Amino acid sequence: TQDPLVIFTPSGKRGRFPAGTPVLTAARQLGVDLDSVCGGRGICSKCQVAPSYGDFPKHGVTVREGALSDWNAVEERYDRVRGLTSGRRLGCQATVQGDIVIDVPPESQVHRQVVRKAASNRPITMDPATRLVMVEVQAPDMHDPSGDFERLAQALKDQWQIEGVTAPLSILQKLQPALRKGNWQVSVALHQAAGQDKPVILDIWPGLHEGGLYGLAIDLGSTTIAAHLCDLGDGRVLASSGLMNPQIRFGEDLMSRVSYAMMNPGGDAEMTHAVREAMATLAGEIAAEGGIDPALIFEVVVVCNPVMHHLLLGIDPVELGQAPFALATAGSVTLSAAELGLTPIAPAAQAYLLPCIAGHVGADAAAVALAEAPNRAEELTLIVDVGTNAEILLGDREGVLACSSPTGPAFEGAQISAGQRAAPGAIERVEIDHDTKEPRFKVIGCDLWSTDPGFAAATMDTGVTGICGSGIIEAVAEMRMAGLLDPSGLIGGPEATGSARCEAQGRTYAYLLHDATAEGGPRILVTQGDIRAIQLAKSALYAGARLLMDQRGVDKVERIVLAGAFGAHISPKHAMVLGMIPDAALDKVTSAGNAAGHGARIALCNRAARSQIEQTVRKIHKVETAVEPRFQEHFVNANAIPHATDPFPALAR
Ligand code: FES
Repeated sequence: TQDPLVIFTPSGKRGRFPAGTPVLTAARQLGVDLDSVCGGRGICSKCQVAPSYGDFPKHGVTVREGALSDWNAVEERYDRVRGLTSGRRLGCQATVQGDIVIDVPPESQVHRQVVRKAASNRPITMDPATRLVMVEVQAPDMHDPSGDFERLAQALKDQWQIEGVTAPLSILQKLQPALRKGNWQVSVALHQAAGQDKPVILDIWPGLHEGGLYGLAIDLGSTTIAAHLCDLGDGRVLASSGLMNPQIRFGEDLMSRVSYAMMNPGGDAEMTHAVREAMATLAGEIAAEGGIDPALIFEVVVVCNPVMHHLLLGIDPVELGQAPFALATAGSVTLSAAELGLTPIAPAAQAYLLPCIAGHVGADAAAVALAEAPNRAEELTLIVDVGTNAEILLGDREGVLACSSPTGPAFEGAQISAGQRAAPGAIERVEIDHDTKEPRFKVIGCDLWSTDPGFAAATMDTGVTGICGSGIIEAVAEMRMAGLLDPSGLIGGPEATGSARCEAQGRTYAYLLHDATAEGGPRILVTQGDIRAIQLAKSALYAGARLLMDQRGVDKVERIVLAGAFGAHISPKHAMVLGMIPDAALDKVTSAGNAAGHGARIALCNRAARSQIEQTVRKIHKVETAVEPRFQEHFVNANAIPHATDPFPALAR
C-alpha cells in the first residue's frame, strides 16, 4: 500500500508521507508556507491548520475520519489553556494517518498578504527582516566547556538552520539570565536583511515571547511627520499618528531651512536635534496608542525628501540648496535606530532609509514608486505626489522618468487669502451654478451641502472657517466653468458676469463664496491673488509632467495616479478643468492615498522589497527641471486655464 497523500490548500502542493508524519514536517518538506515560532513544541499556535473531510473529486481523494491522529496531550493542554478554534489543529502535533486535504489559513502563513488600502497600491507580502524564533539550548557541561552564546548559536543552526548569528553586547548582557530563567528555552528576535548573510540577535526572552514584534513606517514630511505602527507578524496597522515637524520654526519650506543652515553656524545640528526629538516623541505616543511596549519596536523605515533625509541623518543639507544638487549619498541607508536618537524603542532596533532618486527627488518618491510600481505598469502612467513640492514619475515597463517641481504651498491652502489647513470647518468641496452663479459647498466634518436645511445647525460648533487645498482647487475650476473666470485667470466684474458676488477689490475683482459675518465668522472670498497663486502652482505641476512627457516623446498619458494625503481629496475632474494634470480619460485618473506611507510599510514588512526598490531607483531617469529650458516654456503655457495650447479632449466628453 502507498503512503498517505497530503494535499495542502491554497497552495495545491502535495506529496506522500509515511503515516505518523507531523503535518508541520510534511509542510516544510513540500515548501508549504506554514508558520512556526516555537519549533513544534505546541506552545506558539502559529502552525494552526484546518483539515477537511469528505470527497474531493478536484484533488482525486476521499478524506475519511481518522486521516489525522487524535489530539495528543500537548494539543489537549493547549486547548485547555488557550482554546483552539473549532476545526483547527496544531500542525506540529497532528500527524498524518490517511489521505488528507489540509488548508493553511492566512494567519498561519508566514508570507501572508496584507490587504491594500488604495486600489492601485501593491499588496504587501509579509517577509519582514526581523522575526521571532524559539530554541532549546544545551545546558553547560563541566566536561565540555563552551560559552552560552556559542551553544545558542549551535541550537539555532540545528533547530532552525540559521547559521552565523551575531549578538551585540546588549544581548550578551541579557543572555545568561534569560537562558536560566527560561530553563534553557529562549525566544530570540533575529534581524536578517535580504542578501545579508549574518543574522543579528536584536533581543532575547526566557521561554516563548508572546508580546509580538513591531515596526514603524515613518513618512517624514517637511510639514508633518506621520507614522504607522505595524505588527511585524501579520502586517496589521495598530495605530497611525502624526505631529507637526518642529523644523517649521526654522523655515516654512525646504529651501528656507537650507538657507537657515547656511546662514547660522550650527543651524543644521539644531534642526537635526528638533526632528529627532519629535520622532522619538511620536514613537512613544504611537506605541501608547497601539497599546504596546515601545521596547518591542525593532524596525523603523523612514521615507522623506532629500533635505529632510540629510537633516535627519545629521548631514549638512547645504549642497542640496545649490546646483548641481549633490546628495551625500543617494543609496539606501541602514543604521541603528539609536543613532537617530529613537530612545523609547528597542535599543538594538534597526532603521532603514529608502534610497533617494536625485537631489530634488527623495526617498518619499522612491516609496511612491515602490507602492505604485510604475516600472511594472502596462499603461504609460503618470504619478504625481502633490505637496509643497510635487514629485512626478512617468513610466511603464519600458522605463521610468522622475522629476520634482516647485509647486509651493498654495495647494495646501497656504498663500490663499482665506486658506487654511484641512481641518473641521474648512471648505473642501465647491459647486457653482452655471446660470445663477450661486455657490454651494461642503466643509470638513459635515456631510451636508451649505444649501441643505440643517447645515447651519450641523456646523454650529466649528462654523465655516476658511478654505483648504482641495476646496480652492474646486472653487477655481468651478469659477472657470461658470464663466466667472476667463481663460487667462481674470475674475470678471458684476456686469460682465451678471453676479453681484463678484466684488471690486482695488483694480481687480473677488468672488464672494460665503459670508459668515452675521455669525461672527469671516467673509470667504476667492481673490485675484488666490487665482494667481493657484495658477503658479498648477503651472509648475503641469510643466513638470509635460517635461517628462517630452523626454519620453509622448503627448498623452494613459493613466494618472494622484498620490499624497492631499491627492486623495482632489477631484480628478476639477484638477483637469484647472489644467493641473494632462488630459486623460477621467476614469483613468485615480487616487493612491498616501502612497509614500504605503511604500514605507511595504519596505517595513518585506525585506526583498528593499533591494527591489534600490535597483528600480538606480534605473529611474532623473530630469532636473531647473536646468531644462523647456520647463519655462511649458510653465508659461500652462498658466492659462486649462492651458494655452494643449488640448483637453477628455473634458469635452
Ligand atoms: Fe508552535 Fe505548533 S509550531 S504550536
